[in-house]
Amino acid sequence: MTAHIHPRGDVAVLVPAAGSGVRLGPGAPKALRLLRGEPLLVHAVRRVAACPAVGVIVVAAPPGQVPTVQRLLEPVAPVTVVPGGTTRQRSVAAALEAVPDQFDIVLVHDAARALAPPALVAAVADAVRAGHDAVIPVLPVVDTIKEVSASAEVLGTVDRSVLRAVQTPQGFRRAVLVAAHAAAAADDASDDAGLVEKQGVRVRCVPGSDHALKITRPFDLAVAELLLDS
Ligand code: CTP
Ligand code: MG
Repeated sequence: MTAHIHPRGDVAVLVPAAGSGVRLGPGAPKALRLLRGEPLLVHAVRRVAACPAVGVIVVAAPPGQVPTVQRLLEPVAPVTVVPGGTTRQRSVAAALEAVPDQFDIVLVHDAARALAPPALVAAVADAVRAGHDAVIPVLPVVDTIKEVSASAEVLGTVDRSVLRAVQTPQGFRRAVLVAAHAAAAADDASDDAGLVEKQGVRVRCVPGSDHALKITRPFDLAVAELLLDS
């Protein structure tokens, strides 16, 4: 496969977009669902491509929808589209294989975080370029968090001050991400930093963005529409 390479940037961005979006309810795969008339994936890729550091974008599309996704993104940005897998982890692994050799910085960014701003992409890439092997954007946790048993009994209250909610894009020195995926069990990690942590690699936090919210349920789609208008 030939990747589309933008000469200006040294960063490869993988966009897992192969999920079905069960929690969003019946309809098209989540990345193809519309937000103000445009698919979530279009919003996501447009913002990624607006970051000047980005040199190549690899999208993991719902299997069977590769030509559709190629057509959809043609007017948005030059992208390489690969078929995704049955889990997010597999989709990321598939996209990672399509990254051209010269890219040493790889970001992974969920299509479901469709409104993550270009500045966040840049900040994560900058932190990797500055020498951190793994970088994640985080926000403080606002709710009180309790540990609860299967029978709905409260077991305890967790110290919120040490907790962070984790977003994407997550950034990695390429070799670190490749090694983490190679060593990963066939389980389904919900983020890539989790795989890297298991390798004993230090993960650095940078400030996240409210606009990088993950669109999971219909409520989130409504919030995202408001953000687009603001
Ligand atoms: N993803 C993927 N391949 C999969 C599953 C998920 O590329 N087999 C992607 C989704 O498209 C999304 C990101 O991983 O951009 C985060 O996943 P999530 O928000 O859970 O999306 P879905 O799996 O589509 O949603 P749900 O879990 O509600 O079905
Ligand atoms: Mg999912």
